[in-house]
Amino acid sequence: MALSIGSKKKTAVFISGNGSNLRSLIKFSKLKKSPISINLIISDNLMAKGLIYANIFKIDKKIFKFKNRKLDENKLISELKKNKIELICLAGFMKILSKTFIENFKGIILNIHPSLLPKYKGLNTHDRVLKKKDKYSGCTVHFVSSKLDSGKIILQKRVKISKKETPKTLAKKILKEEHKLYPKAILKTFNL
Ligand code: GAR
Repeated sequence: MALSIGSKKKTAVFISGNGSNLRSLIKFSKLKKSPISINLIISDNLMAKGLIYANIFKIDKKIFKFKNRKLDENKLISELKKNKIELICLAGFMKILSKTFIENFKGIILNIHPSLLPKYKGLNTHDRVLKKKDKYSGCTVHFVSSKLDSGKIILQKRVKISKKETPKTLAKKILKEEHKLYPKAILKTFNL
């Protein structure tokens, strides 16, 4: 694997929305035991609420709207290389990255997904889980490969679905676990 222990690895976090996972990763990065520092926040959405954490924690942010995906991805690759980024954490990033992009950062892109992969890849996971009347759902941190939500799984956390569960309550319950799981998965990735 391309990741190794050493000084804190320069990390970029990609977001599209609220950025609660970003906030938890920033908090984690400040711990002595953390192997990462967060140096760059990337978003495809200028209005993403999570961008507020760039201001609060004084972290550089860059917006790439992905209207012309190829052009924006090339600019993004240059930006990440210029900043010597060594780890990329997708945290609620809703754009699909191309094979070329993924190959440029082979083995160093992680993603968090709100289901027990390989079940429920893609969007609207909570609706689909509840329609299927599953007893459990959860979240997964995995390496990103060129197939959507299919790379090697690093860690998962299971949560029990209650009788009165709605997509909203389930999302909230799982998100709380995501905030703990992502840092744990990063530690595991670095064999810590
Ligand atoms: C999280 O639940 C994350 O797992 C999900 O979006 C939410 C983002 O929340 N990601 C995906 O669905 C990716 N396919 P946040 O912006 O508060 O971290």
